[in-house]
Amino acid sequence: MPPVEQIGIVVRDVDQAVEFFTSTIGWGPFKIREGEQKGFTYDGRTGDCRLKMAFARSGSVEIELIQVLEGETPHSDFLRLHGEGMQHLRFRVNDFDGMIAALGKAGVDPLWHQKIPGIAAFAYMKNDKTSGLMVELFERKESKEGRAGTRTPAGQSSTTLPPVHQIGLVVRDLEKAAAFYHSTFGIGPFSIVPKMRFDGIILRGQPTDSKVKLGFADSGPLQIELIQPLEGENIYTEFLRSGNEGLHHLGFEVDNFEGMLAKFERQGIEPLFWKNFGSMAFAYLDTGKIGGVIVELLWHQRS
Ligand SMILES: [Fe+2]
Repeated sequence: MPPVEQIGIVVRDVDQAVEFFTSTIGWGPFKIREGEQKGFTYDGRTGDCRLKMAFARSGSVEIELIQVLEGETPHSDFLRLHGEGMQHLRFRVNDFDGMIAALGKAGVDPLWHQKIPGIAAFAYMKNDKTSGLMVELFERKESKEGRAGTRTPAGQSSTTLPPVHQIGLVVRDLEKAAAFYHSTFGIGPFSIVPKMRFDGIILRGQPTDSKVKLGFADSGPLQIELIQPLEGENIYTEFLRSGNEGLHHLGFEVDNFEGMLAKFERQGIEPLFWKNFGSMAFAYLDTGKIGGVIVELLWHQRS
């Protein structure tokens, strides 16, 4: 499949999320759109919904915020089960039916889907066999010029992060997820770090020792990171224990790690899990209260 085109984030309130992401991450300006979607199929039944959505770019990917105003969709179910957060990755395909058939052979069937003949087709694919990752296939036959939408003002961005560099997923079985994503979605092959020691990492203010397995693959300019906790407590065990698996965080490479941490702290956003090793540093930030997205700051010393 081609590179990830869009990151879909389910939110309770699009306006509130737009304001938060603009001021904390520097995303935007967002285009906001509200509309009905009629005659889709969700889990085998035909349905209608009203959605409010907002779109902004972050480098190579589009950020999509989705609020369900009426109706039952995978987004309303996601919100009920997991709360706000990253829900799907979208891939643009040229042979929609062929791709649906290929994924069907791997046991990945459409969950929420619709075809508008001659115009477009989309399908959110079931994620029970994909280590939690929900993939959207999207095909557009013709571009609709002048789509309805209003442009939000640029807003007051007090922190501006560079474009998204990494999409991080936490999975229960990394080898299985990596092999499946490669064979089914064409992501990878992943290079795997079988055991990485995370010693003395600060978890909510307390140093912790843990071990993790890591996997990395590129999707265009984006890096896909898989993480499987092996031993000890960390932010990933918390995620799995609360019943989640799949999309976990967005990573941003920054030049000035301590300066960026301080900027977030001034906005009342603390690091959840972090360490500065001297030649590299990472910090997962407590950015999930609105919109449910954990931001990771990444820094490497440049020689
Ligand atoms: Fe990461």
